Amino acid sequence: MDHAPSRANQPIGLFDSGIGGLTVARAVAQRLPHERLVYFGDTAHLPYGDKSTAAIQSYAVKICDLLLRQQCKLIMIPCNSASAAAYDLVREYVGSKARVLNVIDPIVAYVGQHYAGRAVGLIGTKQTVNSNAYKKKIDALDVGIDLRSLATPLLAPMIEEGFFQNKISDDIIASYLAHPALAGIEALVLACTHYPLIKPQIDAFYAGKVAVLDASEAVAAHAAAYLEAENLLAAPAATAPAHHFYVSDFTPAFEQSTRLFFGQEVQLELYPLWE
Ligand code: DGL
Repeated sequence: MDHAPSRANQPIGLFDSGIGGLTVARAVAQRLPHERLVYFGDTAHLPYGDKSTAAIQSYAVKICDLLLRQQCKLIMIPCNSASAAAYDLVREYVGSKARVLNVIDPIVAYVGQHYAGRAVGLIGTKQTVNSNAYKKKIDALDVGIDLRSLATPLLAPMIEEGFFQNKISDDIIASYLAHPALAGIEALVLACTHYPLIKPQIDAFYAGKVAVLDASEAVAAHAAAYLEAENLLAAPAATAPAHHFYVSDFTPAFEQSTRLFFGQEVQLELYPLWE
């Protein structure tokens, strides 16, 4: 497909309920170091995990307007709750102006290839689990995967406070993972932006008996494959791309927490989208 070089040099947009989606932004920046990222964290409405589908859809559409105004060639939804609630609507809304990628499809494809006929667990927010978005997509593969999901709403706020890798968080994680809903699984999907940070604790709980699947790498690989196939990869430049990280509500605590999720502290810019 023939694309003007200028389109290839337009940024990748990512939107999330807050700063947790920086786990995916980080994976994208590592995989695609020449791409300029425009990240929008809707901190004014955080958390999405407890919001209704209708509320998340209305936020998502407005955020996509902003990302389209910023000329994003690709819009990624790292947030599982937003992917579950708003992906279909957003894809239709954005139409041919940009490709939209969610965080669910790449991991569903992976699970379909590797766990046919087996039991797979999933943990995420109430919105992600109650929407059945993963279950519908996995059932549609028709490869006999028994998906066993559990909402684990305490985990995202706990992680956001930097409260992990300690005894109490070990106990909270263990009490969720010991729930009968997750009995007998061979793999566990981490269906929330925040959970890569507690993957070592989850791995320790299962002691190698259950494969713990972090979607961020798969999502970054999916974006890279799409851009390559469409001839939309940004040209290497002499200087590193200037990313922008917007939030709809700013606090110093959000900025400090970026270190947890992005691996280094980044400067957040207030974009009061809801005023
Ligand atoms: N980003 C959300 C997700 O991945 C977690 C935080 C929230 O509930 O907003 O589901």
